[in-house]
Amino acid sequence: MKVLHYHQDSCNGEQASRTCDNRSANEKCANQKSTGQKVAVVDKVIDSKASAKNSFSTLAKLLAAALLINVNTSWAGSLEQAKRLHDRLAGVPADASTLGQMRDLIDQGNGLDAAYVAMESKHFYNTTLKLFSTPWTNIDQDIFLPLNDYSATVIGMVRDDLDFRQLLQADIAYVGRPTLNLPAYNINNNQHYQALEDNAIDLQADLVQVTQSSLNGLPTEATAGVLTSRAGAKAFFYLGTNRAMLRFTLINHLCTDLEPIKDNTLPPDRIRQDVSRSPGGDSRLFVNNCLACHSGMDPLAQAFAYYDYDFNQDADPEGDAGNIAYNQTGTTDPVTGTRVQAKYFNNNTTFPLGFTTTNDQWQNYWRSGNNRSLGWDPALTGSGAGLKSLGQELANSEAFAQCQVKKVFKNVCLRSAESDADINQLASTTASFKQNGYQLKRVFAELGNYCMGE
Ligand code: HEC
Repeated sequence: MKVLHYHQDSCNGEQASRTCDNRSANEKCANQKSTGQKVAVVDKVIDSKASAKNSFSTLAKLLAAALLINVNTSWAGSLEQAKRLHDRLAGVPADASTLGQMRDLIDQGNGLDAAYVAMESKHFYNTTLKLFSTPWTNIDQDIFLPLNDYSATVIGMVRDDLDFRQLLQADIAYVGRPTLNLPAYNINNNQHYQALEDNAIDLQADLVQVTQSSLNGLPTEATAGVLTSRAGAKAFFYLGTNRAMLRFTLINHLCTDLEPIKDNTLPPDRIRQDVSRSPGGDSRLFVNNCLACHSGMDPLAQAFAYYDYDFNQDADPEGDAGNIAYNQTGTTDPVTGTRVQAKYFNNNTTFPLGFTTTNDQWQNYWRSGNNRSLGWDPALTGSGAGLKSLGQELANSEAFAQCQVKKVFKNVCLRSAESDADINQLASTTASFKQNGYQLKRVFAELGNYCMGE
């Protein structure tokens, strides 16, 4: 995913803030957060549709389209198509017999089955899906990080054709088969997954599904798929105020950052005490800017009120040996006096009349105003307690379904959707994704077919 980082310098008008556009700067920001300084970094995910097109490129496209009409029939024969389909899905060339099988299926008009043949390659799992999911597991969206419990769970769920909406809500995880004799899953490190990678274990053959609660000890009702994975917690519950978990879930799974969905018509009543109502002495800035994100974001991020990522800040500043923490029923946090984690009281003297978090009841204000366009499920209520029901709210949105399809399009077509035909294809594949039980492999198959003749 291409991400243009830009600086949002207004999270606290009274204090200078910093650009966080690389790993070390992000660390600085994280450290700032822990010392009470306030920084928000807002990345803008570039939407290809929004990028300006000049008349030259339009002309070039028209010419290219005209050429394509002439050469289309001779250019991509079924063998070529089979090759391309395999390369795109598996990331490696096919052997002769696989290629022949795929070509025959394409000749019979059965490109979908040809794609499924390509996805029998272990490289579809070990390479394509690994690289596809890894950027979702860290704030830098780095594609080249080791396998972890978040990416392994994505890979396993795709392999097993599970309903992809469960990614954000189920009591689920994938680990290596016990007979592999690797270091066991450990809530305090990533060694199990590192070993799967170091030993080049065939993930298609050797990932097994388990309950996440059996690994990390969370109560089942507190699990929410990859959002409560160790890697997810390490990346998005790390220091800060837990708002990062919401922001990155939006970026990774609804394909939008906060900037494009700002709405300053919503009520401010759930905005926490750490957000100044007159940043830099100017209350207009609050109304026009801060409120536009925080009014909707804060009541959603309340779902994470009982979660944190625990690690030793002095000995282990990166949190490599940390674990997800969850305040179970009956826990009283010494700072908040409730089950709510202390980080929800960071800088609570900035605006004492702001909202005080006392539980994990979230509410989706974006069901009103502009952000109705994210397509919330009318069968759900738009409110709840805890992360599992929030995961359900997000995963049942139209934006979630569209986002998965958009990401696969980029992955197999090696470009963003641009033309009317592309946009129509996104829409029809999104509809088919929903109709066919949200199976992501099918999305790879449909879009692989769409792009194999280019
Ligand atoms: C485009 C959306 C957006 C706007 C506008 C915005 N914020 Fe934020 N704010 C965020 C996000 C996202 C975070 C969480 C950052 C993180 O932890 O990665 C955040 C975090 C914060 C925090 C907590 C920082 C910490 O210690 O972790 C404060 C305080 C804050 N914002 C205040 C403000 C104020 C004051 C304004 C207006 C001047 C403002 N914000 C405008 C999105 C926004």
